[in-house]
Amino acid sequence: METFTIEQPIWKFSIDGWKSQKDKLLSEIKQGGIFSIKESGNTIYNTDYHLANSKIPSFYKDTAVSTISSSLEMLSKKYNLRIEVTKLWYQQYKKGDFHAAHNHGGTNFSSVLYVELPENTQTSFYFDYEQTQEYKLDVKEGDYIIFPSSIVHESKPLELDETKTIISYNLSIEFK
Ligand SMILES: [Fe+2]
Repeated sequence: METFTIEQPIWKFSIDGWKSQKDKLLSEIKQGGIFSIKESGNTIYNTDYHLANSKIPSFYKDTAVSTISSSLEMLSKKYNLRIEVTKLWYQQYKKGDFHAAHNHGGTNFSSVLYVELPENTQTSFYFDYEQTQEYKLDVKEGDYIIFPSSIVHESKPLELDETKTIISYNLSIEFK
């Protein structure tokens, strides 16, 4: 087997009116209670990943989608794309929590909204599947990034006594 490497895009947006969106999202997420995951590659204080495929209307999902809608619209117009959110969930990390290197199946683009982002806790991306070359994007709270779902990424163990909150959206993106 030979391996060829081509460059792929990662798009970044800054959400307008972020402060009020942040407060709204966090208070709506809080209404869902706490569901923790403790697995070998995945230790997360609170997530609704187990409900991500559920058709049950969720307490925060409308707000989560409306928060990113103008970003999706901008991208859609620029490249004449049809974009659909196929699945979304949140993850809240406390000290020691992490999500080991993984990628997302069953979708062609993944995306992340950084709701709470303690210092130096941005996602690690890898150029290669051997994970020898790590890349960190310059992101802050209120930023939203979209990347090809095949790209390996990781949330390293949180070392601070703070909470990291992200919303993850799987997207279907195709040319119209
Ligand atoms: Fe991920």
